[in-house]
Amino acid sequence: MDREHELLALAVSIAREAATLARAMRAAGVDPVATKSTLTDVVTAADRAVERQVREAIHAARPGDAVLGEEFGTDSGAGKGVRWILDPIDGTVNYLYDLPQYAVSLAAEVDGTVVAGVVINAATGKEWTAVLGGGAFANGRRLSGSVQTDLRQALVGTGFGYAADRRLHQAAVLAGLIGEIRDVRRLGAAAIDLCLAAEGSLDAYYEKGLNTWDHAAGGLVAAEAGLLVTGLSGAPVGPDMVVAAPPALHKGLHDRLVELGADKGP
Ligand code: IPD
Repeated sequence: MDREHELLALAVSIAREAATLARAMRAAGVDPVATKSTLTDVVTAADRAVERQVREAIHAARPGDAVLGEEFGTDSGAGKGVRWILDPIDGTVNYLYDLPQYAVSLAAEVDGTVVAGVVINAATGKEWTAVLGGGAFANGRRLSGSVQTDLRQALVGTGFGYAADRRLHQAAVLAGLIGEIRDVRRLGAAAIDLCLAAEGSLDAYYEKGLNTWDHAAGGLVAAEAGLLVTGLSGAPVGPDMVVAAPPALHKGLHDRLVELGADKGP
């Protein structure tokens, strides 16, 4: 087995345990324990418990690797080799409301490049995986994205940040786009959105304001399914914009987002 597949195998086994813990804690009942950037940006005990469990499992298997996680940041084990990028529960608001769209997202990055990633919808058990250069899979089935070629018939996923001023900007961008596409979906977990675009259940996806842990694993899944995963105007993916779309849709969506200033504003 090559190194990328070894990292993926470890990621999958750790993410499955994490998803089991998240689901069990959800069944026992969930309350927000704190808020982060705004009143609506909540963290639950499960976010923290899952992140702790994943960190311990990574360090037990691979002492010296670094971990970047949503709840506890970068650990001091900042290694030269592999950095793991973790969203313990992507879709925390769905988790809080028991809506079945929340995921464990875990990626392995080597020298700044994500080489393996897994996203597991903890509510349903559905798994998406990818290895750099090795394709993307959902429960063993190879993914190749949507065959839609007409943006006017595209179902486009997106999301909103937690800050009111950013949301207003994002809503204005969406107001400019929504009359020109089939419809939008706001499902509430960016990692899952990227995987749904990878499997063609969404034709495309875009969002401003994502953090690395939101898109590291799902972005690799989408790219390995053949989607173009970019920022705007030549920028790499990052907090200003993530656009994931099959080549036939990417230019049209990208150019419209540029016209609408989707990567600008708060
Ligand atoms: C959020 C979700 C949501 C997206 C937000 C993210 P979290 O992540 O992915 O769909 O619209 O931008 O912050 O807070 O649930 O881990």
